[in-house]
Amino acid sequence: MIRSILIYPNPELKKKSAPVTVITDAVRELARDLAETMYDAPGIGLAAPQIGVHQRVIVIDVSAKDEPPQLIVAVNPVIVHAEGETYEEEGCLSVPKYAANVHRHARVVVKALDLDGVEHTWRTDDLLAIAFQHEIDHLDGILFVDHLSPLKRELFQRKARKAAEETR
Ligand code: NI
Repeated sequence: MIRSILIYPNPELKKKSAPVTVITDAVRELARDLAETMYDAPGIGLAAPQIGVHQRVIVIDVSAKDEPPQLIVAVNPVIVHAEGETYEEEGCLSVPKYAANVHRHARVVVKALDLDGVEHTWRTDDLLAIAFQHEIDHLDGILFVDHLSPLKRELFQRKARKAAEETR
């Protein structure tokens, strides 16, 4: 089922998500909904709190448009190693019509469970490394705009306030 995506500054986006203790049918359904909602948007990643569910589940698909889809479902993802630096432009389905460069690690190793409870390890770089860091941030209530310099963040907030007034 396609769910509605919460939009900044919805306070639900600032809450920390809890680890999944047992992978139930409800968790599998949540993952399906996340994937459907992400592909519909379309986006390259989505975290459960973005649809108002505060559990540590994310989906990512960074495959190119002309490639077959490569869906990653990660339950309780943890970054176990990070190195290097990168500074690429990011956007977010919860922060429409805004993009900015963000400092991230260039390479991360992520461990997570799949929907059968099996642990997987991803050794990532480039776009996938950024996507994992961005989506795991969501589970801790952090948005990419929280990484901006104070000045850039102030400009962003001013723009967001103006956009909110216009749609009122
Ligand atoms: Ni996002």
